[in-house]
Amino acid sequence: MRYQAARGTHDVLPADAHRWQSLEREFAATAELYGYREIRTPAFEDTELFVRSSGEGSEVVSKQMYTFLDKGDRSLTLKPEGTAPVLRALIEAGQLAQHSTTRVWYATPIYRYERPSKGRYREAHQVGFELLGSHSPDADAEVVELTVRFFERLGLQGLRVLINSIGGPETRAAYSSKLLAHVGSWLEAQPEEVRAKALANPMRLLDTKDPELRQVLEGAPMVLDSLESASVERFEQVRRRLSEAGVEFEVKPDIVRGLDYYTETVFEVVATSGLGSQDSLCGGGRYAGLAKELGGADVPGVGVAIGVERVLLVMEALGISPPEPRLGAFLVAATPAARQPLFELARTLREKGVSCTLDLDGRSMKAQLRQADRERARFAVIVGDDELASGQASVRDLDSSQQKSVPFEEVACALR
Ligand code: HAM
Repeated sequence: MRYQAARGTHDVLPADAHRWQSLEREFAATAELYGYREIRTPAFEDTELFVRSSGEGSEVVSKQMYTFLDKGDRSLTLKPEGTAPVLRALIEAGQLAQHSTTRVWYATPIYRYERPSKGRYREAHQVGFELLGSHSPDADAEVVELTVRFFERLGLQGLRVLINSIGGPETRAAYSSKLLAHVGSWLEAQPEEVRAKALANPMRLLDTKDPELRQVLEGAPMVLDSLESASVERFEQVRRRLSEAGVEFEVKPDIVRGLDYYTETVFEVVATSGLGSQDSLCGGGRYAGLAKELGGADVPGVGVAIGVERVLLVMEALGISPPEPRLGAFLVAATPAARQPLFELARTLREKGVSCTLDLDGRSMKAQLRQADRERARFAVIVGDDELASGQASVRDLDSSQQKSVPFEEVACALR
């Protein structure tokens, strides 16, 4: 029996790992620069946590969760997103108090039962951050700015930052009724499932890719026109701050987001190349009632999660590849007598910080040099009878093929 990775999951093989490492490093560095600290939460949580936070009507909860009963008959769910677990953890640790601000970042796998396609997986990875405890629109702008700075740091170009405001819960309720009235005759002709979904979260209709519905939605009222004055002012302040920070953005009235917890500012960053229809690199926004809903103090938050696989696809399309790490040296034993001294040399090199490896199985010199190539070694350090007699190793630069003799005790220095 040959096994394959489960549908919608994938391996990161050694030749690709450095791309992931580099992205995660840049993300952590950017977040820490803005005062965010890392938080890690478990892979699974009580199912109820996600039902309460994402909303029963959300696609994630109604269709996509990996839910199972453990041997103690508890209903658990592999996390489909990172925000609710972060809040749960901070509330549980008593670290989410009113009148103080908490900034955290995370890198996590997420699990959603989706139909896999390019940029859409059942196990995907996100890096994200949450800013908790601030009501200020400046917090919304900080999160958008930080996201954009991260993308800039990776060298991504041609991205569009799309922002919108969906107002508070009252605005949403009033606007949802207006929207349902606008699509009334179309909705009546739809199957029960579509109607139920639309009624559960009418604003999600705006997200549609269905050409017929898109046409129906032309001329539909816009949530931006239904905002109360406080929301209008808040949104203006977010935009002002972003402009001051030199962040280019577009106001896109049909960005509404798929999870139920958002209020006021929502945003996405989309790529113009490399992703096709799954073009959304990240999504985020403000949430008001989530901490309270999860049993904590009534603390607002704003945050974002960025799809790691999608960012890597865009980097590849743009030809951006972080440098592949190289092995410092491969130590080649030209004769059996050289094996023992090479083990000692390897130890010395590693102590001095030069990465190296060597053959463990007495393979031929040709096979060892092939292995050195496969491991992308910078140098081959070759030792045979002549070298043992002279006390000098042959150090070959594997890029230029130039070779010179170096006394054993100076090899580390020469390689560095
Ligand atoms: P989300 O929009 O569901 O938001 O996901 C954010 C990003 O994760 C997406 O824009 C996409 O890049 C990536 N993503 C999501 N699902 C998949 C998938 N199946 N395959 C590949 N990539 C995927 C959230 O998860 C919120 N927790 C974001 C947030 C944080 N809001 C506030 N704070």
